[in-house]
Amino acid sequence: MNKISPRNLIMTLTALSIGLSGCSTSRRSTSAISERPFGTDSQGTPVTLYTLHNKSGAEVSICNYGGLVTSLKVPDRNGNYGDVVLGFDNLADYIKDSPYFGALIGRYGNRIAKGKFTLDGTTYNLATNNGPNALHGGLKGFNKVIWKARPFQSESGPSLELTYLSKDGEEGYPGNLSTKAVYTLTDDNALKLEYTATSDKDTVVNLTHHSYFNLAGKGTILDHVLMINADKYTPVDSTLIPTGELQPVDGTPFDFRTPTAIGARIGQDNEQLKFGNGYDHNWVINDNTGAIRLMARVYEPTSGRVLEVLSSEPGLQFYTGNFLDGTLKGKGGWIYQFRNAFCMEPQHFPDSPNQPNFPSVVLKPGTVYHNTIIYRFSVGH
Ligand code: BGC
Repeated sequence: MNKISPRNLIMTLTALSIGLSGCSTSRRSTSAISERPFGTDSQGTPVTLYTLHNKSGAEVSICNYGGLVTSLKVPDRNGNYGDVVLGFDNLADYIKDSPYFGALIGRYGNRIAKGKFTLDGTTYNLATNNGPNALHGGLKGFNKVIWKARPFQSESGPSLELTYLSKDGEEGYPGNLSTKAVYTLTDDNALKLEYTATSDKDTVVNLTHHSYFNLAGKGTILDHVLMINADKYTPVDSTLIPTGELQPVDGTPFDFRTPTAIGARIGQDNEQLKFGNGYDHNWVINDNTGAIRLMARVYEPTSGRVLEVLSSEPGLQFYTGNFLDGTLKGKGGWIYQFRNAFCMEPQHFPDSPNQPNFPSVVLKPGTVYHNTIIYRFSVGH
């Protein structure tokens, strides 16, 4: 007969009591990694879905197609676990038509004007997949490739390492780019993403993460209360390319230095909000020293869930799901409507390869690109 030590018994009971507290799935109180088949890509390559379970009972599922985060379950103020990201129940739906739900974005997050940039005297041409511009790495960006996966237990919680070699010329970008993304679900309920990359030729790189969050797990995000730690943002033209200016947020609907409901000013008669059909802009986050600092904090009043976004990057793209229009049916049958989610994408500024005044996105051989993003969850009252 198996002996149950007092410690194991406590852990089992904790798991049971959490499981009975009103959530739909039972929760464990030990760190674990599980995996299951998640269909095949269009070439017939099998894809695996990995689920990282931390000691607190939170869990995140990630597949090695596109590095997609397909679900992220964290507690509300009553200890009920709920999924706070949009997505689909199966891989086929992600492949068919997804607006980058949960995706790992590369080689270049956000837009490059007219799909062109010049580096060391050579002009590179990219596919224009978003009106006149290139968006999120091209026709087959990092969100659509198969990554090599290695799950492991790290000191701070269960982790998944994904690696991918993007060949010289892939999607028009120069250099063989070796990319690594490590996802860790820390025991204090943070999803930590650590991106690194090296290249054998001068190139440009800007990796980020594209989860669509809804901290209530349903409905509009307009009542979520947002703080963004930024005195300035980068205004855009009508195709969402930055004009190159860094404009003070003071006196504009882009001022989130004091916590404000996302919906409080989104409908104002403002040219920038019209261009984005809502918020779809890059904020210039204060204290850009390369150290990880707080970029934004979001509080959802009904669930009490709080999301804090931290990163070492200079900018944060905040996007309010303005292109969601009720045509996509997501997990559990939820029809995703206009502004049912928001994205928080820590990254370098859009169109940096063409903007001499923006922080550089050039990666040279012998140096290492780093971007650390932390999505930290807690509850507030
Ligand atoms: C961009 C939006 C775009 C969305 C794609 C965001 O990062 O800023 O303009 O529509 O990604 O789903």
